[in-house]
Amino acid sequence: MKITEYITPLKENIDKAREEGKTVVLVPTMGFLHYGHLAMVEDARKKDENHEEIYIVMSIFVNPLQFGPNEDFNKYPRNLERDSRLAQEAGVDMLFVPSIEEMYPNGKSLTTVNVFTVPDGLCGAFRPGHFQGVATVVSKLFNIVWPDAAYFGQKDYQQFIVIKQMVTDLNLPITLIPYPTVREPDGLAMSSRNSYLSKEQREQAPVLYRALQEGASLIDSGEKRMEVIREKIIQRISFQTDGKIEYVEIRRADDLSPVEIINGTIVIALAVHFGGTRLIDNIIVGV
Ligand code: PAJ
Repeated sequence: MKITEYITPLKENIDKAREEGKTVVLVPTMGFLHYGHLAMVEDARKKDENHEEIYIVMSIFVNPLQFGPNEDFNKYPRNLERDSRLAQEAGVDMLFVPSIEEMYPNGKSLTTVNVFTVPDGLCGAFRPGHFQGVATVVSKLFNIVWPDAAYFGQKDYQQFIVIKQMVTDLNLPITLIPYPTVREPDGLAMSSRNSYLSKEQREQAPVLYRALQEGASLIDSGEKRMEVIREKIIQRISFQTDGKIEYVEIRRADDLSPVEIINGTIVIALAVHFGGTRLIDNIIVGV
């Protein structure tokens, strides 16, 4: 595995791989890697077995543009030594770890990418500017790496839909590969932010996924009223945890448009604060 902080050698190496006929796959991350990140690398690596030669680029960049003023940019966990070992073991070919100056040479980006409507509600309602920061940095990474394909986790479901809309609207020739949420054995979605949780909070956190599963089984057993399912999930989380619910919402899975009576494939998404730690999770249910 090669590792670089700089765009020029990154591009040179990618060009070489492309000349050798390799398919370039990007896995963008903010680091503090866990198996949710590494599973995407392993999945890409498997394509080698199908005789398609893959060149995997992983980026690690804690993007200041997507953090609000009172969010955890400064304390976001970082451990490059551990990350590079894990990335190498998982099969990354090129690790891109730019500094803020390399990504934003003038201190900020005067050009930003805005996807409208999709960021309304859910996380977008509580993190103003967040998806603008995400869409801008992902556009920059796409333009730097020019990958054939890029992986995005379904754990950040709204983020995936925002990027999908951006790729469609801007005619970007990039195949997006959504990757299912990777969970701890007790069901908690893996997240770099889980490291903030106290022992007690960590014990309570799996209730989020259990509540989502309960919502899904209500739908499976015929309940179609969005509000009834939503209330059940809210009750369970409120009764069984000290978490403070930011939102529990049910939307259409393809474009996140609102739904009152459930039909088609929907996503139940939530955000809950455990002390200063904000956790998100979701479940997709097809009717
Ligand atoms: P980060 O939170 O580090 O996540 C990087 C990628 O890993 C995202 O596509 C995310 O959805 C995916 N991921 C995280 N936890 C996962 C899990 N438990 N299961 C499956 N996939 C998981 O998301 C970001 O960084 C940033 O917003 C980024 C896209 C890199 C732009 O800055």
